[in-house]
Amino acid sequence: ARTSDVKTRVKTYLMNKLNAGFCSHFPAVLNCCAENNEREYGQRMTNEQYYELIKPYEDASRMLLGRLELLNRNLYASRLEYGPIHNIQSRIKEKKSIEDKLHRLGHRDGVLNARDYLQDIAGIRMICYFVDDIYNMVAVLKKQSDLVIMKEKDYIAFPKPNGYRSYHIVVGMPVYCLDTMEYFPVEVQLRTMAMDFWASMEHRVCYKKNPDNREELEREFRRYAQVLEDIEMEFEAYNERKGIKMEQEKRIQENE
Ligand code: GTP
Ligand code: MG
Repeated sequence: ARTSDVKTRVKTYLMNKLNAGFCSHFPAVLNCCAENNEREYGQRMTNEQYYELIKPYEDASRMLLGRLELLNRNLYASRLEYGPIHNIQSRIKEKKSIEDKLHRLGHRDGVLNARDYLQDIAGIRMICYFVDDIYNMVAVLKKQSDLVIMKEKDYIAFPKPNGYRSYHIVVGMPVYCLDTMEYFPVEVQLRTMAMDFWASMEHRVCYKKNPDNREELEREFRRYAQVLEDIEMEFEAYNERKGIKMEQEKRIQENE
């Protein structure tokens, strides 16, 4: 790239950072003012528009996946031959799911509404070994100064009434296109294997369906969640006895 091009990009980037708390390119996500222009925003989404819509989200997701893989290699590396991540899944929301979710939120299903109101068009699910791995990963991600944490929910410290546990963050990834830069949100769900087992089973059986025995189900699922958490803690305790946790903490302190 020509130096002048690079300079323009850096300037755009810095301007964006200076503007309105990092998110000037996301005014509608933050201010929810999309419905102002009914005509433009109310058009239904064609297949072509859908494919155009998801492109930058795919870019954002790919770039974030690259960073996560790098962190997985480096977070505890050199002392330990394994990282915090067991496996990573990623998906782009399908057209039908985007439309359904917009309807559920009370909006029409145009592309502009999708961009304005949905923060989970790109989604990454990161399955870790231990709860500590999750908090360690979130902490290092937060140190990457070009990322914007747009939303954060700790369902591990504060599980949902049905027993759902996971750590959710929506990361604003800078996506460069010639001389412009825009943040695109990627929803990251961090879970342990036990949390993922529970969530996958619960999703299969009842998420977003509306059963009449809801409370009974919730109680039942809370109990399953507790059993899984107990097992998780036993592995945790074993890990600590083996001194592995100490090694991890040492490694992180060295990095700081
Ligand atoms: P959504 O409209 O579902 O995106 O919810 P939200 O905007 O309130 O966000 P939240 O962070 O609560 O949930 C986002 C995602 O987490 C969901 O799309 C699911 O993938 C997952 N999730 C949240 N709650 C549950 C739950 O009770 N069970 C399961 N299986 N998954 C859940
Ligand atoms: Mg969702």
